[in-house]
Parts: sequence; C-alpha cells; structure tokens
Amino acid sequence: MKSELTNGTGLSNKIALLLVEGARVPARKRNTDDWIEGEIVAKRPGDDGKQEFYIHYIDYNKRLDEWVHDDQLDINKIKLPQTKNSRPVSPTAMLNKVNRKRKIEETNGYSSSHSTNSDTDEAPPIVPPIMPAGPPSTGSLSQNQNTYDGLTRIKNVQQIEMGRARMTPWYFSPYPQGLCNLPVIYICEFCLKYLKSENCLKRHKIKCKLYHPPGNEIYRKNNISVFEIDGRKNKNYAQNLCLIAKLFLDHKTLYYDTDPFLFYVMTEYDQFGLHMVGYFSKEKESSEDYNVACILTLPCHQKKGYGRLLIEFSYLLSQVEGKLGSPEKPLSDLGLLSYRSYWSNAVLEALIQYLDSPTESPPSLTILELCDRLCMKKEDVISTLQHLNLIHYYKGQYIICLSNEIIDQHRKSMFRRKVRIDDKYLQWQPKDWSKRGKW
Ligand code: ACO
Ligand code: ZN
Repeated sequence: MKSELTNGTGLSNKIALLLVEGARVPARKRNTDDWIEGEIVAKRPGDDGKQEFYIHYIDYNKRLDEWVHDDQLDINKIKLPQTKNSRPVSPTAMLNKVNRKRKIEETNGYSSSHSTNSDTDEAPPIVPPIMPAGPPSTGSLSQNQNTYDGLTRIKNVQQIEMGRARMTPWYFSPYPQGLCNLPVIYICEFCLKYLKSENCLKRHKIKCKLYHPPGNEIYRKNNISVFEIDGRKNKNYAQNLCLIAKLFLDHKTLYYDTDPFLFYVMTEYDQFGLHMVGYFSKEKESSEDYNVACILTLPCHQKKGYGRLLIEFSYLLSQVEGKLGSPEKPLSDLGLLSYRSYWSNAVLEALIQYLDSPTESPPSLTILELCDRLCMKKEDVISTLQHLNLIHYYKGQYIICLSNEIIDQHRKSMFRRKVRIDDKYLQWQPKDWSKRGKW
C-alpha cells in the first residue's frame, strides 16, 4: 500500500518525507516576496491535490501562521526536527527510519498516513486529530489544550461575520467542527449566537429582540456606552463572547466557566442599535488585584482608540473600588503596546498636573502617591517611569526628571485623544463579592 506522500503531490518522495511536522524551512509569506524561517506545524492535501503545509514563522506572532504550498518552501534548506533529547536528526537517518517504518506498516497493511506515533522523530499523522464536537461546557480551555495541543495551534475558523463586518480570525477557537468547515460563521452582533448561514441569521433576527448587549448599561456619554454583564446570569452570552475573543487571543486561558467573571462590553450607538466594539473581562474576586482578565477590541474597530478607552475605563472602576489594579499577565504583544501607551500618558499627565500646582516646595511626589492617584500597581508605575527614562540618580537619591521635550510630546499626544472616559457618566457601585457566598 502506498503512503499519501508518494501519491501525486508533485514532490519527490525523499523531500516529501523530510517535510515533517517540526521541521524548519524558509517559507515565502503569502502575497509577499519575504522568505522567513518557518516551522511546519501540520500538513494536509490541498483542493488541487497538492500538499499544503501549515507554517509558523519563527519569531513572529502566531496570527501570521498560514497554509502554504510547497512552491513557497525553500526545500534545499530543510532542517529536521530535534529528537526528545535534543539531538539534531540527520536527513539520511530520518529517511532511513521513516522508510523502515513504512516497510513494517506496508507489511501490516497500513499506510504511513495512519501512523499515530507521537514521537517527534517518527513520521507524523497527516490527517489532523478528531476535533471536539462543540465547546466543552465546564472548566477552562487550558485543561483541554493539552489534549488538542497540536490542533489548537492551527486556525480553524475561516471568517466570521458580525453586523456589517467580516473578520478573519488570528487563532484557534473551539467552535463546533461543523461550522469550522464553512467559509463564514455568522454571528448575531447583539446576542452573539453563532449560526451557519445568512438565512439562519435572518431567521434568528426575527426572534432576537436585542439591539444592545444584555446586562446593565453603566456608562453612557455621547455615542459610547459600557454594559456590565454577569457571567453567571448571562452564561450563553458570556460563553459566546469568550469564543469570539479566543479567535483573537492566543496566550490566555479561556474560561467556559464564566460564573466568576464580569464582562464590560463597550458599544457605539447608531440608529440600528448599540454595536459592540470591544470588551474586557474581570474576575469578581481577584486574589492578585487584577482589574482586567482579557481585553479585546474587535479587529474591525482596532487602532481607533477603543483599546485605550477600555483600559481607561478599567482603571476608573478600580478608582471607584478604591483599589490599585493591573492587567492579568502575560500580556500579548498588542496588549503590551496598548498598556504601555496608556500607562505612559497617565503617568505623565499625573506628573504634569502635580507640577502645575505642587503641594510642596520643592515639589515632592512619591511613587506610592502616584500609584494612588492612578490606581496603578507599583511595578507598573516603576516600569513606565523606566520606559520613559524619567528616573535619574542625583546627589545620592533617585529623582524624576521631566524635560520640556517630553512635556511637549505628551501634550501633542493628548491633543489627538478627543474621546476620553468621563467619570461623571459612570453609574456604578462595586459589589463586595466575598460577602455574596456563591456568585
Ligand atoms: N501596531 C502598533 N501599535 C498598535 C497596534 C498595532 N497593531 N495596535 C495598537 N497599537 C498601539 C496604538 O498605536 C496605541 O498607541 P498610541 O495611542 O500611543 O498611538 C495603543 O496601542 C492603543 O491603541 P488603540 O487603538 O486604543 O487599541 P486597539 O483598540 O487597537 O486595541 C488591543 C488594543 C485591545 C490590544 C487590540 O489590539 C486587541 O484586541 N488585540 C487582540 C487581543 C489582545 O491581544 N488583547 C490583549 C491581551 S492582554 C490581556 O488580555 C490582559
Ligand atoms: Zn441574537
């Protein structure tokens, strides 16, 4: 019996056998002329009968991972995967081993594409493992991630449509497999139910009376509102929101048990309703004083300042609670950029405000006082001061130095931010969840 690799893929047998999961090979990014070192994560037969390879570009974020054809691979520069004890495998040894294995399987009547041995130096399965039928209903995704590890590295949803926007996902999210085979998953932009076709969505919209997120509207200024949604009271909505978020969040644990979380959904108003632009989740009780668990701006609304507004809002809630807060770690690359930007502006704004009307002469503001003013944790304030290069050692002590140049830059940057969160428009009382027994 012949293995799939020898079967009309256009590649020579030898090369096809070397292009295994874990092998590294320069790959040309789709629609570019850039050749980047990539790792083969998976293989599949393409629609045209040619083999396709799922490539992760080394040192690049996984949202750039993609399926490519062999003509996008520089097959002269294949590096085989390392064995468990980190010995590099020589191409010849690898080929011999694979050939030996195939011989045994052929004798037994199996093709190599049915191999399930997970050793890294064995030929990997070509057929991807079985997908879960639907999202698990309890526990966190991290528990399942081990089981579906290889699988969760591969983007599984082609596109989603929400309201007027079509978005291409960045990462795996455990939508039911039946939907993942479709070109588009249709999502009701108000209740977040996912549907398999435009017709199903139309039928759903006749029944779905929502034109805003569920929960309480706790903030409204001009066309921006924020709704607070309890993950226990609105479980379906919260779970569907997590499914959407996972499409764009790679490194975070996704909780299906949404009971311990509150969700703050920011919307933009027009005559058709209050449309979600982004959200953040927050633990009802956080032992680490996290004021944000996960934060997302829908890609169609990114880079317009909503991420910043969400962050500003999260610190306003901390202020009302009388607590210092910090986002849950690790931050993503974009999360770090956004927090850095917010923290820098917030710290500079507080310093400049203080300098405009100092309470002491000479002005003296401690880091702890800064933390209290900004509701930011000490480590975030210090890292921001260091990032801005404001801390200097002078005559035996550390001082904060603000140059006129930095002040000017800050003023220009704040001038661009027309929309800010205005605490006068918040209608919210924090709840003491520790006194409530079960959330
Ligand atoms: N490239 C460069 N800079 C960027 C980018 C980007 N792609 N995206 C945002 N920034 C910078 C902006 O320039 C801005 O800085 P500036 O104001 O100094 O110019 C700052 O980040 C904030 O920009 P916003 O427009 O307010 O942010 P946005 O609405 O795009 O949302 C967010 C940022 C939430 C991180 C978004 O990129 C996102 O949803 N990403 C996917 C999910 C994610 O990674 N979430 C964070 C995980 S960490 C956590 O959950 C605690
Ligand atoms: Zn709906």
